[in-house]
Amino acid sequence: MVTMESAEIETDLSLFKYDNLEQLPTAYRTLSEAERTPRIESALETLGDDVIVLGHNYQRREIVEHADFIGDSYELSKRAAEADAEYVVFGGVTFMAESADIITDDDQTVILPSMEASCPMAGMAEALQVDAAWAEITNAAPEANIIPITYMNSYADLKAFCASQGGLVCTSSNAANAFEWAFERGDKILFLPDKHLGENTAYDLGMEDRIATWDPWDPEGKDPEAVAEADIILWDGYCQVHERFTADHVRAIREDDPDAQVVVHPECRREVVEAADVVGSTSTICETIASADPGETWAIGTEIHLTEHLQRWHPEVDVLALCGDACMDCNAMRQIDPNYLTWVLEELVAGRERNVIEVAPEEKELAAVALERMLEV
Ligand code: 13P
Ligand code: SF4
Repeated sequence: MVTMESAEIETDLSLFKYDNLEQLPTAYRTLSEAERTPRIESALETLGDDVIVLGHNYQRREIVEHADFIGDSYELSKRAAEADAEYVVFGGVTFMAESADIITDDDQTVILPSMEASCPMAGMAEALQVDAAWAEITNAAPEANIIPITYMNSYADLKAFCASQGGLVCTSSNAANAFEWAFERGDKILFLPDKHLGENTAYDLGMEDRIATWDPWDPEGKDPEAVAEADIILWDGYCQVHERFTADHVRAIREDDPDAQVVVHPECRREVVEAADVVGSTSTICETIASADPGETWAIGTEIHLTEHLQRWHPEVDVLALCGDACMDCNAMRQIDPNYLTWVLEELVAGRERNVIEVAPEEKELAAVALERMLEV
């Protein structure tokens, strides 16, 4: 059991959860695509069934081209769980690789090509910080049974914390079900770390008037009375890629082409979600474009690499970036450089494991409970 003492702590965004950062050896730093592609292919051939490469939808082209499976964070975790391979090389960010480690067998090893691939939003709700806030929040509503729910985009220790308090994990595709699960068991929800996904889910459930926000970085942002009143308490975290989209972007697209349709990720602000035609996880975005009729125009509100993949994969559809040149790539996802992929694969061929993601056993057990509860909803 993970036990955490409630304590006053300095808030500090730790972007890099793992301290075994390894520098890419010099010989790999300047490889061109023409040089590395045959080396990656050769390493994969040598490793055969011993390795599986997973690529999140936001990974760059040079990574997804080598992936056995491409998908959203939930699908990739399921693929990792189903895989027999000894090594799971994860093209994604730390929290995704941790989830893969939690649900794969003990004799499987998860490798993240670069340890610097840490999602800033996951770093906005550190378990110790949440534990300290938990004491304040539960004191504000002493009679209430508060169930914590954490978005998949969080570290394993926070998933473990949620399980230890009777809560669970959700993804962008099953957040409403997770909220309903929690309301069957408790009176209030603390949702972490993404306030936008939390708010959008509250709207889906018709509970938009029942929200309070908890800002752990601002003494004015923690209102015990609002917590006592509310049913849904939202941690004040956000994704800096998705926060950039605004309703003006949607308006501009529609003004330019009244037939254009808009699909966005639920990490976007409420105003953007309300203005869009379709809202969903990265796999919903992929399915929307895959099922579009030739000649249709779709603007996409998510990380730019996925928009670029969809332009390549579906040339029959006119795929646009919702905020044009201002659309961002995810800095964390970008850390998975194809030269790092070359390096970790060639090291495996040489019998050396680099950049292994290994969740501490006591966290792993509880985080697995939070993930299993998610599968129930
Ligand atoms: P998905 O779970 O929809 O793939 O999203 C992950 C993510 O990081 C979105 O920013
Ligand atoms: Fe995290 Fe946002 Fe990047 Fe997704 S897009 S991994 S939420 S920073």
